[in-house]
Amino acid sequence: MKIELVPSILSSDFSQLGAQAQQASEGGGSVLHVDVMDGHFVPNLTVGPPVVRSLRKVIQVPMDCHLMIENPDLFIPEFAEAGADWISVHQEACEHLDRTLHLISSHGCKPGVVINPATPVEMLTEVLDLVHHVLVMSVNPGFGGQKFIPNSLNKIAALARMRGERKLEFRIEVDGGVDLTTVGDVVKAGAELLVAGNAVFGHGDVRSNAAKLLEAARSATFARA
Ligand code: DX5
Ligand code: ZN
Repeated sequence: MKIELVPSILSSDFSQLGAQAQQASEGGGSVLHVDVMDGHFVPNLTVGPPVVRSLRKVIQVPMDCHLMIENPDLFIPEFAEAGADWISVHQEACEHLDRTLHLISSHGCKPGVVINPATPVEMLTEVLDLVHHVLVMSVNPGFGGQKFIPNSLNKIAALARMRGERKLEFRIEVDGGVDLTTVGDVVKAGAELLVAGNAVFGHGDVRSNAAKLLEAARSATFARA
């Protein structure tokens, strides 16, 4: 599985959003992560389809929309139409998760499912064959710049095992607290899509932050079990 850096615009300077997103891809970010929050499912508000539509004009890489919202079915068509490539929904927010994942596919997007830190991977047993990616939250969703929760490593490793045993192909994504000190461990545990907000956009040069993080992630693959 290919290691990819997935910069999260949540920590970017929104007055320079297009330029910063481009710098992150120049530094090696090959997918762009857009955090969508509704103030209900998580205690914060962010952006919606208009921002996705604007980014689509200046960004060549796939856009990974992480919906931290209630009733995602209501908004999936609009995100797809705005230019989302991947759409992920929280297991905790979906009463009819199977239906929601099919809805995402029916709009031409790659479906992903997300679990919060307190949700066990076993909750996903019945949908693993439907998803393009599983996103393991390694912080409680809602804010950038939080501390990585170490038990996420066990969840990533368990998912990698389940994937091998069942010969499935979903990709494993991790989101929250990924930086130069934690990226090696998440890669060794089996994650390959590495979301990073603060570590890329929080300080210093976006391009070189991205490049250093990707380099650290790739060097950890050599140490994988
Ligand atoms: C948090 C978001 C993350 C956030 C991660 O709810 O889902 O994508 O941007 O930020 P960092 O990398 O700063 O922990
Ligand atoms: Zn996210």
